[in-house]
Amino acid sequence: KKHLISAADLSREDALRILDTAEELAQVSERSIKKLPTLRGRTVVNLFFEDSTRTRISFEAAAKRLSADVINFSAKGSSVSKGESLKDTALTLQAMGADAVVIRHGASGAPQNLTQWVSGSVVNAGDGTHEHPTQALLDAFTMRRRLGDLAGRRVAIVGDVLHSRVARSNVLLLHTLGAQVTLVAPPTLLPVAVDAWPCEVSYDLDAVLPKSDVVMMLRVQQERMNAAFFPSAREYSRRYGLDRDRMARIHDDAIVMHPGPMNRGMEIAAEVADSARSTIVEQVANGVTVRMAVLYLLLGGSEPAIGGTL
Ligand code: CP
Repeated sequence: KKHLISAADLSREDALRILDTAEELAQVSERSIKKLPTLRGRTVVNLFFEDSTRTRISFEAAAKRLSADVINFSAKGSSVSKGESLKDTALTLQAMGADAVVIRHGASGAPQNLTQWVSGSVVNAGDGTHEHPTQALLDAFTMRRRLGDLAGRRVAIVGDVLHSRVARSNVLLLHTLGAQVTLVAPPTLLPVAVDAWPCEVSYDLDAVLPKSDVVMMLRVQQERMNAAFFPSAREYSRRYGLDRDRMARIHDDAIVMHPGPMNRGMEIAAEVADSARSTIVEQVANGVTVRMAVLYLLLGGSEPAIGGTL
């Protein structure tokens, strides 16, 4: 495949190939080999129209660990502020030569549009409320490392599903990998089309927690929020926040995830986020490895990695 736009583009075989490649890369990294020559001479452009901490840094780190040249573009401070369109920005990048463009954009569908204007691979790093496929891959990788095979595992995804590209990509990928997903949210924070998603829906977090192997908390996206959907932070926290009392309902081997950035004290209590059950920091570290695997597989590295691992 040339691009990674949606988790729905990945067959089970594709997804396992990425996860298995990431596992090999993690093992190489654990042997203290930090840099591989695999993408030497290739250029990766990080094209970020929306803010990011984790995704942007981890794509940069991933490309650099594979020896690619990296160009970071931020809409802030660019000619986008003078009204330049995505198409003209893309044509400029194309003229400079980019083997891969990693794009984050506030408009759902922007990465798909970009594929018309650049000849390199396009990787969706989050588009509007649509998808964030590499987040779903790093989440699946983290779950697999902690829990083994995901087939039959029960995953609760909790909170502001309506605005969450992370939730949509996770539902699609986890379904492909054979896990059973339950979305838990107030009715106002679920998409209208959720009935067509391959998952169950519940409004009762306390009932779902004891049955879950993974509890993934979502950020309440206040910047995209209509006040009518979200009248009170205190009420939200009381019904859908994960605090110490609710943690007592989760079984001993279950893990707690959050893609970040977190609203500590809103959807997740600080002591839960910092507990031994939380994989939040691990998710960030795994993000680099998984994004290395994605770039490697899309760009088809020209040199074998250390020890012929890849
Ligand atoms: N999880 C995630 O996408 O975080 P950033 O917005 O910081 O990239």
